[in-house]
Amino acid sequence: MQEIVLTGVSKGFGKQLLLSLSEKYFIHALTRSPEDISFAVELEQQNKIKLYYADLASINEVDAFCDQVLANSNQLLGIINNAGRRFRSSIDTIEYSDLCSLFDVNIHAPFFIIKNLLPLLKKNKYSRIINISSIVGYRGFDDLSGYGMTKGAINSMTKCLASELAEHQVTVNAILPGFCETSYADKFKSNLPLYESTIIRTPLKRWGADTELNGIVEFLLSTHSSYMTGSLITMMVAGLQYDS
Ligand SMILES: NC(=O)c1ccc[n+]([C@@H]2O[C@H](COP(=O)([O-])OP(=O)(O)OC[C@H]3O[C@@H](n4cnc5c(N)ncnc54)[C@H](OP(=O)(O)O)[C@@H]3O)[C@@H](O)[C@H]2O)c1
Repeated sequence: MQEIVLTGVSKGFGKQLLLSLSEKYFIHALTRSPEDISFAVELEQQNKIKLYYADLASINEVDAFCDQVLANSNQLLGIINNAGRRFRSSIDTIEYSDLCSLFDVNIHAPFFIIKNLLPLLKKNKYSRIINISSIVGYRGFDDLSGYGMTKGAINSMTKCLASELAEHQVTVNAILPGFCETSYADKFKSNLPLYESTIIRTPLKRWGADTELNGIVEFLLSTHSSYMTGSLITMMVAGLQYDS
């Protein structure tokens, strides 16, 4: 069975990806929270996944996680960098420490997971890196400059590594979801004017479901995406119709 690394499996997109992909692949699954992951523990008991615990804000924990995967795996089909820290703050209130923490989790961790596990990807005949970015890395939004900068950086990383790793048959793509029903949805929707502004700018006039990433990821992992690398996939989950 082909093996994949997936981060941020406790909830949201990561939980849905774990449930769906573990039917077809063996998953090295990273979670920070040991709570509320009985679904993952059950999958581990069925030998469909291996669970790892790490806080991606710490580079030492990123390295320790990668060392464990290197010890447990001979080769990888793919890495899905899904875990991410969301943060809303105006430029007036954001602190240096907030930015550092956003960059640690959203860009430094994915970059060093790729770097450390690259030898396992190179061993496969072909392999896939999938970075979960955001529409915020592509369009401007109030109070999301810190988060948006990290997602802009992941888009640049995706394109540069797509070029650099092509000779090893490693493809690198990013998915840029719009607004989707993950763990932040209820709180966000309680601010009605903010929620309505997202619906106005979304072509399908609804938020995406947390399961709507699964098909795109499965396509990117498959041979059907063999000639696709360096792509920033927007709009397919829930894009934004109007500029502003
Ligand atoms: N939902 C959307 O509308 C949307 C839109 C665009 C992009 N995205 C991106 O999609 C990805 C998944 O987000 P989501 O919406 O599914 O959010 P979510 O429900 O909040 O899940 C985020 C996941 O990331 C993990 N995580 C956060 N900080 C971490 C850390 N320091 N170390 C290890 N794990 C950490 C969380 O673990 P804990 O349980 O420990 O917190 C959780 O498993 C993120 O990269 C996000 O930026 C989401």
